[in-house]
Amino acid sequence: MDFNYTEEQLMIRDAARNFAQQELKPGVIERDEHQKFPAEQVKALGELGFLGMMVSPQYGGGGMDSISYVLAMEELSKVDASASVVVSVNNSLVCYGIEKYGTEAQKEKYLVPLAKGEVIGAFCLSEPEAGSDATSQHTTAEDKGDYYLLNGTKNWITNGNSASVYIVIAQTHPELKHKGINAFIVEKGMEGFTVGPKENKMGIRGSDTHSLMFSDVKVPKENRIGDDGFGFSFAMKTLEGGRIGIAAQALGIAAGAYELALAYSKERKTFGKQLSEHQSIQFKLADMATEIEAARLLCLRAAWLKDHHQPYGHASAMAKLYAAETAMKVTTEAVQIHGGYGFVKEYHVERLMRDAKITQIYEGTSEIQKIVISREVLK
Ligand code: CAA
Ligand code: FAD
Repeated sequence: MDFNYTEEQLMIRDAARNFAQQELKPGVIERDEHQKFPAEQVKALGELGFLGMMVSPQYGGGGMDSISYVLAMEELSKVDASASVVVSVNNSLVCYGIEKYGTEAQKEKYLVPLAKGEVIGAFCLSEPEAGSDATSQHTTAEDKGDYYLLNGTKNWITNGNSASVYIVIAQTHPELKHKGINAFIVEKGMEGFTVGPKENKMGIRGSDTHSLMFSDVKVPKENRIGDDGFGFSFAMKTLEGGRIGIAAQALGIAAGAYELALAYSKERKTFGKQLSEHQSIQFKLADMATEIEAARLLCLRAAWLKDHHQPYGHASAMAKLYAAETAMKVTTEAVQIHGGYGFVKEYHVERLMRDAKITQIYEGTSEIQKIVISREVLK
């Protein structure tokens, strides 16, 4: 066991930290308030290589490991989870899925610009009636020979309007249930593909969440990922890595709130002493620090297993479950430590508390992570 980061990992962490402080922090409150997608910041993240950081350099990526990815996601998420979710979806769900399972032609056409951050991607599994119950896909992809005819609606799609490349999961052979599902690469601008209005959300308000409608969209056969019927396994396998990204996002939200609460506890005085001198506040800080460290270790362990080509689905589910629950607890305590000041926007912790909530919901709710973990432990 080696608990030391490499020099490269530290460099990436520091680069992400600097970017978060210098480029994301100014304006983060206004973007949240006005639900403004961080377009310029995402462009800059692309130019710095964060949007395809784990993709092989052969396809325009950074060739970095998953530990570096966790470190970068933590730092970005300390400040702006609406920006970090773009990094997570683009890297873990879109680039990874195409690099691991796509054809050479798909990689050349789609992965290279995605990895370079020239375009961004979206991953479209959820539907109005298929969220946790992801096998009950209602979107259909009828095999028409040279192309598939795509019909249906996807819900809650991150980067829904800002993306150019969409991985869409759809049912081709309903009689085969999940074994009849396929995954397709769909381009914005394909005839019959429309983007619904932006959702007005509680948290990650800068993130671009939309429903997508497909009406007789002709998707070329060469845009199917993997063999016929591979789509559900594709989605599950891809989500195993996605959950590491969201776990690291939750970790970052928690760590960001903790750092603010720690600093505030040394500034604010009540009853003639600093907040940090009251034992009740000290114990809160001790609990927060311990739970954040445990979440960090779970994230790093899942990343390590992935980097060492060992099964990591259960580890990523544990990391996501624990980090998301920690994010919710720690951000709530951070608001409490700030008292009334924590309840107003300029102190940042109320936004972090609202942003924390989504980590218990997307990429599989906490209850779904418990299903994944319990199936593994009962095997
Ligand atoms: N890898 C490969 N295959 C897998 C798998 C995995 N990790 N997990 C399941 N499968 C396979 C199973 O082996 C099974 O196939 P076979 O019958 O051929 O063996 C098939 O998938 C169906 O599996 P289950 O019987 O376990 O299916 P289930 O209906 O009980 O549901 C579930 C499984 C884990 C609950 C799954 O539906 C799930 O993960 N739901 C949550 C969906 C989710 O995470 N959505 C996230 C959307 S993306 C997103 O949210 C992005 C964002 O916000 C930024
Ligand atoms: P449901 O599945 O209806 O669940 C409702 C409640 O019941 C939850 O608490 C759930 O845990 C619980 N529950 C359900 N089944 C069980 C069970 N068997 N046992 C115990 N409890 C259960 N999806 C994408 O495909 N791509 C995206 O980019 C994307 N981005 C998102 C961004 C945002 C902001 C949001 C809100 C969602 C996003 N999602 C995305 C969708 C997200 O993955 C789903 O919302 C999530 O998987 C839950 O599905 P649901 O909302 O349909 O809830």
